[in-house]
Amino acid sequence: MNLSRIAGVGHYVPENIVTNDDLSKLMPTSDEWITERTGIKERRYFTEGKDTVASMGANASRMALQRAGIDVSEVELIVFATTTSEYYFPGSGVLLQRELGLPGIPAMDIKMQCSGFIYALSVADQFIKSGMYKTALVVGSEIQSNAIELSERGRNMAVIFADGAGAAVLQQTQNKEHSILSTHLHSDGTFAEELYMRHPGSLLKKRLTAEMITNGEVLPHMNGQLVFKNAIVRFMEVISEALEANNYSKEDIDLLIPHQANLRISEYIRAKLEMHEDKVFNNIMRFGNTTTASIPIAMSEAWAEGKIKPGDLVCLAAFGSGFTWASALIKW
Ligand code: UT7
Repeated sequence: MNLSRIAGVGHYVPENIVTNDDLSKLMPTSDEWITERTGIKERRYFTEGKDTVASMGANASRMALQRAGIDVSEVELIVFATTTSEYYFPGSGVLLQRELGLPGIPAMDIKMQCSGFIYALSVADQFIKSGMYKTALVVGSEIQSNAIELSERGRNMAVIFADGAGAAVLQQTQNKEHSILSTHLHSDGTFAEELYMRHPGSLLKKRLTAEMITNGEVLPHMNGQLVFKNAIVRFMEVISEALEANNYSKEDIDLLIPHQANLRISEYIRAKLEMHEDKVFNNIMRFGNTTTASIPIAMSEAWAEGKIKPGDLVCLAAFGSGFTWASALIKW
């Protein structure tokens, strides 16, 4: 039976470090507030004149391919998860394909926000299982700092969201002991407006005006407390779903990599699952919430630090705008 395995992981973060103290100079906030509510100490913002969503995705992809020992010419499919593509259209997938020099292969975008990387992983996994492709690149990349306002009005989002990219190379295998065991995808559009960016969009049913831009209607909006409450419930559900589907229990997990939404969310999940600190990977302290990029950046760092070894049971889980939530269970 065709299955897919993660052959390599990579990441790229911009060199521009923005600390909580830097933000405190731009808006009424403090290192103490941000650390206590989110766990974040610093994050990265893109370097002007250098980084784009696709260029950061390309850097992460090159690292993943190099670590996998796979030549870029072997890639047959690109699945690119991003909320912040360069253009309203076309998507970032084709720009990555252009940058990697792979004309002709399919390159699709997945717009599922914080769950985007797991959705993209699932899509690539299905194509490989069906036998249609043997090698796929799955990428999550975001430049969010451009869309948030560094002001009191934008501060609840400005202190969390940040920029970065991560990638995984998937390859066909027949060996279940080193493969993606299952992926689990969910959504509930009832909550679409609880974390969203309205413009440019059609639901307003009228044209965008300069006044709307001045009034801040183009800024993203988040009902932070409601998102938080839903996140902790859905994270738990979707992790349990993945374990039950494969007859594993929480004690079998070698490493849980939650989407880096808020350190308090990760800590809540860890406590509920009664897992040791070493078994839940967090790097939000250094990178903030990078939406689709957070899971592949975390996988890449965890792998490089020797926290993911061949044969390990790795669980990925995410929750975010949509609402969407998802998990993946992987035998590395
Ligand atoms: O990526 C996946 C989806 N996203 C998430 O999972 C995020 C989930 N939500 C959260 O992480 C939290 O809701 C936040 C960290 C965003 C906010 O924390 P909170 O404890 O829910 O704060 P809040 O929004 O209820 O605001 C509490 C107070 C308010 O002041 P008043 O009305 O009590 O006077 C805010 O105006 O804190 C104020 N506030 C701030 N103060 C200093 C909001 N943002 C800031 C800030 N600095 N950056």
